[in-house]
Amino acid sequence: QADIKKGLPLVNKKVLVTAGPTHEAIDPVRFISNHSSGKMGFALADELASLGADVILIAGPTVQLSKYKSIRRIDVLSAADMLDACLAHFETSDACIMCAAVADYTPTIVANKKIKKNESYFNIELKKTTDILKTLGTQKRSGQVLVGFALETNNEEDNAIEKLRKKNLDLIVLNSLNDAGAGFKNDTNKVTLIDNALNKTVFELKSKTEVARDICVKVIDLINK
Ligand code: CTP
Ligand code: CA
Repeated sequence: QADIKKGLPLVNKKVLVTAGPTHEAIDPVRFISNHSSGKMGFALADELASLGADVILIAGPTVQLSKYKSIRRIDVLSAADMLDACLAHFETSDACIMCAAVADYTPTIVANKKIKKNESYFNIELKKTTDILKTLGTQKRSGQVLVGFALETNNEEDNAIEKLRKKNLDLIVLNSLNDAGAGFKNDTNKVTLIDNALNKTVFELKSKTEVARDICVKVIDLINK
């Protein structure tokens, strides 16, 4: 195993990747979530593993499977669970790529029995989840590389740069939902990479595997800086 990996650019590097959506429980049978398929995060984990990295993949609920047995997968459900798993592994990681579509809000109360229908209207009170990436950004040591994603529909680059700054990131992957073929369920994606020196690279629409490769090239660059 060690011999096979020798010479690969990410050998002896531990990289944390998050993928997929989160499920925020309302009661034992219902939850709030989003359309994330997990494909991009799993493609990243596969690509990193192929480059020799020790990959910890923290996955929200998804049907995706990894190509490599060496990838250590931790399954989580909620944003709170994902936060705990990330905090347990971030300190010892060389890089973290936060690809998951973490819920921004979660119900204030989780009913322990199935909620019966009753009135014509039903309100669910929500509270903000902890911003995992921002939390990791405050804990980042020098030499650690922190990568975030930004899903935007308008004012895209400005919003992405604001997230890069606010969350203390080294790189942000701007995911444009405006391009046909980009985003959630598709096997393709169109991204722009912006680093913290504001170097910007705009990529064509390509397969998520190829997008993962582009991101890895940049991450290797940042790790070796
Ligand atoms: N993120 C996170 N924890 C959250 C919400 C988001 O770690 N509770 C991460 C995502 O994984 C992503 C980055 O923050 O890498 C940006 O997520 P995005 O939804 O684009 O931005 P938000 O900061 O949540 O802002 P908004 O949804 O209002 O645009
Ligand atoms: Ca969000």
